[in-house]
Amino acid sequence: MTTYSRITGTGSYLPPRRLTNADLARELAAQGIETSDEWIVERTGIQARHFAAPEVCSSDLALEAARNALQAAGRSASDIDLIIVATSTPDMIFPSTACILQHKLGAAGCPAFDVQAVCSGFIYALTLADAMIRTGGASRALVIGAEVFSRILDFTDRTTCVLFGDGAGAVVLEASDTPGILASDLHADGKHVGILCVPGTVSGGKVLGDPLLKMDGQAVFKLAVGVLEASARATLAKAGKTEADIDWLIPHQANLRIMQSTAKRLKLPLDKLVVTVDQHGNTSAASIPLALDASVRSGKIARGDTLMLEGVGGGFTWGAVLLNF
Ligand code: UT7
Repeated sequence: MTTYSRITGTGSYLPPRRLTNADLARELAAQGIETSDEWIVERTGIQARHFAAPEVCSSDLALEAARNALQAAGRSASDIDLIIVATSTPDMIFPSTACILQHKLGAAGCPAFDVQAVCSGFIYALTLADAMIRTGGASRALVIGAEVFSRILDFTDRTTCVLFGDGAGAVVLEASDTPGILASDLHADGKHVGILCVPGTVSGGKVLGDPLLKMDGQAVFKLAVGVLEASARATLAKAGKTEADIDWLIPHQANLRIMQSTAKRLKLPLDKLVVTVDQHGNTSAASIPLALDASVRSGKIARGDTLMLEGVGGGFTWGAVLLNF
């Protein structure tokens, strides 16, 4: 009998401090940086984002999201035999945020590791967990995207600091006789390293280079629109499906204009597009599982729906997962 993997529970968590565009604009104005709610909404669709308190790490956000997903799946931490955390804002240089999370969950023994693929991280992590389950290496995985991007923002650069937020999303992915994940597609092209990066590093006890996020927004925008369409089409082809089979498109939540343009290129009506970027901002690896969980909990996404999840981000990395929920 073929083994598949299927999502049995979703969860998410947003830190309580919520800043509207007006709140952020006020804080930035105090430092002489000019922006407005009007500009941010018109260019990105973002209205608000959440920022974690200074002492809160990615593993803390991941812990809450994981607990919610476990509860939704009717599982406890001791049932889990694989933990993968997608993050670009880990608690420490090492060990992995996944190991720190495992201990906070009160679990021990199962493999736990991080995936670093920036905003495509959750798509990479989900694909890895699916492969491990299908080949018998795991049977109940926790797959999480967790980020505290507020820590790596340059609040003197208005072209980037208004775009990002903090949060975490999680799924429990279990071995199943019936297909959940139908197909996936992963890519990277390292020649684009410079258009979206945090170029600093740590050496000899010091930060070397700039440890804050840099982005050429227009270059990222152009690349994102093209690869999101191509990856969705490649994934549909692998699964023997067409655009008409997609009930919900859940792209990485970075910019509403990129998301709408992807839906249009795939000839999907905009009411099949899941949008949470307006309330969360861009939460990098957390954005897709956050959007998924919000839509499941609001009743928008129902069991049996066919979902196209798509990520794109620094690396450059991109990819998609088609699944039956
Ligand atoms: O998660 C990884 C994926 N990341 C993305 O998908 C991001 C992709 N890129 C984007 O979303 C967009 O390129 C941005 C939202 C970053 C920028 O939008 P844009 O329409 O490409 O604006 P722009 O960079 O062309 O800037 C237009 C103007 C500039 O002023 P001038 O030179 O025309 O006078 C900017 O200085 O808007 C100005 N501007 C701002 N004004 C007010 C840039 N940022 C701001 C701001 N508030 N926050």
